Amino acid sequence: MSDVATELRPPSDAVRPPRTAGAHNEDPAQDYRPPAPVPTTPTRALLRGFFSRGRDMLSLMPEQAYRDRVMKVGRTRRTIILVNDPEIVRRLMSDDVEEFPKNDLMSGALRPLVGDSVFVSDGAAWRRQRRMIDPAFGHIRIDRSFLAMQAAVDAYQNRLDDLAGTGATVSLEHEMSHVTADVICRTIFSRSLESEEAQEVFRSFTQFQGSVANLQLGRLLFGKAWAEVEQPPAAVDSARRIRHLLGGMIDRRIEEGGPEGGPEGGDIAGDLIAAIDPDDGSRFSRDELIDQIGVFFLAGHDTTAGALAWCLFMLSQQPQIVRRMRAEIAAVGGSEATIGLAQIKKMSFVRHVFREALRLYPPLAFIPRVAQTEGHFLDTRFPRGAMILISPWIMQRHRALWRKPDIFDPDRFAPGREKDRCDAAFLAFGQGPRVCIGAAFATIEASLILARIVRRYDIEALAPETVWPASRLTTRSVSGIPVRFRRFVDR
Ligand code: HEM
Repeated sequence: MSDVATELRPPSDAVRPPRTAGAHNEDPAQDYRPPAPVPTTPTRALLRGFFSRGRDMLSLMPEQAYRDRVMKVGRTRRTIILVNDPEIVRRLMSDDVEEFPKNDLMSGALRPLVGDSVFVSDGAAWRRQRRMIDPAFGHIRIDRSFLAMQAAVDAYQNRLDDLAGTGATVSLEHEMSHVTADVICRTIFSRSLESEEAQEVFRSFTQFQGSVANLQLGRLLFGKAWAEVEQPPAAVDSARRIRHLLGGMIDRRIEEGGPEGGPEGGDIAGDLIAAIDPDDGSRFSRDELIDQIGVFFLAGHDTTAGALAWCLFMLSQQPQIVRRMRAEIAAVGGSEATIGLAQIKKMSFVRHVFREALRLYPPLAFIPRVAQTEGHFLDTRFPRGAMILISPWIMQRHRALWRKPDIFDPDRFAPGREKDRCDAAFLAFGQGPRVCIGAAFATIEASLILARIVRRYDIEALAPETVWPASRLTTRSVSGIPVRFRRFVDR
């Protein structure tokens, strides 16, 4: 692949720990600390933000951010408050949601693509959308979606067998985006990613993610609100193309089967076309359908893909964890035959490994809100309009809340280890009424993909010392994760 040569270049100004402790670990007693920026002093953080434009928020966070309960971030014109206290976060995200709505930051970036969809709307508009969408993600629907997940992973295994046969170097993030996009395509439209139209949606999403303007401290330092920052033409163009393609797919579905139509058993597109608001009997308009389906495509594959890529990268460095996963998969009956939902539910170690990847590399590193009125958290005051930052990245590595917070230790989620973790500070899926609608879906999907990959392949990371996280639209690597897949041979 042509982009791999570029990916192999290390980031020019990475702030690295002295050494990645325990890399490629055969010794279970040795700690493994996967790559993460070393927190810095507040002054250095400010200088870094000033001199390196485009630098991401993670590398600008001072050590204090990982220790304080509430902290004012930098000296920005618009007050930014970082909140790390689980009790205050619960208030913000669960009890007082009306007082702390979604922030213009996120909405401004996503609006060209997803309009005023459930991810960005607030108040009555959000409540109506959520009422109509929730049933599509209920328990029964997960059982049905699992068939789509299996079909996507079966197809993906053919691709991986070919890659393993040739020994080609590939981008792990791109690979995971491919399989998760196929899952979401089959779940929403009952069609595989192989169709020309779906391929084009996938390509346009990749372009959108690559070009959309991001949360950069430089912008905040100069006092510009996100919504004032114009999105680059490439992002606007790809958003327009995606909306056009999704609109065509929705039209065809309605023509084929009417609002109740669609394949037997239905899919998410069918559910949304047929959804009726129980309060006023209204349906989604065509534009609203494009908004919602756009969000499911974006939120439903990019997040899971990022988390899976980080998880598999860490596993490539931790063969003894891989051995334990293989033992569990074999023990619950996952032989060469298809792994079913019942078996996935029994794979607690596989789930703990994925949860630990979500803790260390939450796809949404920051969840912004805006204060509707002035107020204070502990003794830190903020004016009306202040940006309130909740950071799964920081809370999930907070020094006071987790034992050995920077160390990869999936067993911390095992029963009996409650003292070593803080469940109230696990925010990878958010919490309260705006909690991720796809959390159960993503956990099952990721467990299936992990189990199927780990059981059949070894992964060799080609330049692990160059792998470095940054907060973009989701948490991604700065210069890629080049890997090779090889068929695993059990000796
Ligand atoms: C590992 C995978 C995923 C992660 C880490 C994740 C994370 C999140 C987080 C943190 C939020 C809350 C944002 C906020 O409060 O501002 C959220 C909301 C949301 N997610 Fe996910 N997500 C994942 C997968 C999915 C999937 C698979 C879907 C759908 C197919 C999905 C659809 C949504 C939607 C629609 C919302 C908005 C909910 C609302 O505001 O009512 N997500 N997600």
